Amino acid sequence: MSASNNAQITPYISREQIALRIQEMAKKINADYTGQEIVALCTLKGSVLFFADIVRELKIPLRFEFLGTSSYGHGTTSSGEVKVTLDLNSPISDQHVIVFEDIVDSGLTLSFVLDYLRARKPASIKTATLLFKPTALKKPIKPDYVGFEIPNDFVIGYGMDYAEKYREMPYIGVLKP
Ligand code: IMP
Ligand code: MG
Repeated sequence: MSASNNAQITPYISREQIALRIQEMAKKINADYTGQEIVALCTLKGSVLFFADIVRELKIPLRFEFLGTSSYGHGTTSSGEVKVTLDLNSPISDQHVIVFEDIVDSGLTLSFVLDYLRARKPASIKTATLLFKPTALKKPIKPDYVGFEIPNDFVIGYGMDYAEKYREMPYIGVLKP
């Protein structure tokens, strides 16, 4: 598959690998939260496909929340500025929240999201990210559940975009200019 502007997509993590890893992550979450109810919080837009797939593997009572954040604009490096583009629509106070993220890169977004949510006094917060770039991290945060640790490459597909493109790809690829 070749993208516009001569960008090249190299397949990186297949649909099958993603599905298997999500089952393993869900198994761990199911075990950790036995007997509890959770708020499953999807950050928009990148986490939509990951969220849709993992919630189907969860066996604990849950409700959905969505939080829209944006930090990237149209480049491939974080602007460092995070803003809320869509707010929660119910309180999360005294509830157990799991934040589902597509990818933790610099960690600026997740760290902003955690501060934002903590101010709403949940009983607990944990984070589950499909992808984690440990070498890109600029904030002292550690996601509780990680799908794949990846090097500092720019990835697309399975919810993740470059300038709003490629989100619908069912697998994850690396974008080379
Ligand atoms: P961070 O704030 O640098 O950790 O990045 C957070 C957000 O930027 C992620 O939730 C993604 O939506 C987006 N992002 C970071 N790295 C990539 C990438 O390699 N491809 C696509 N989007 C990314
Ligand atoms: Mg995201």
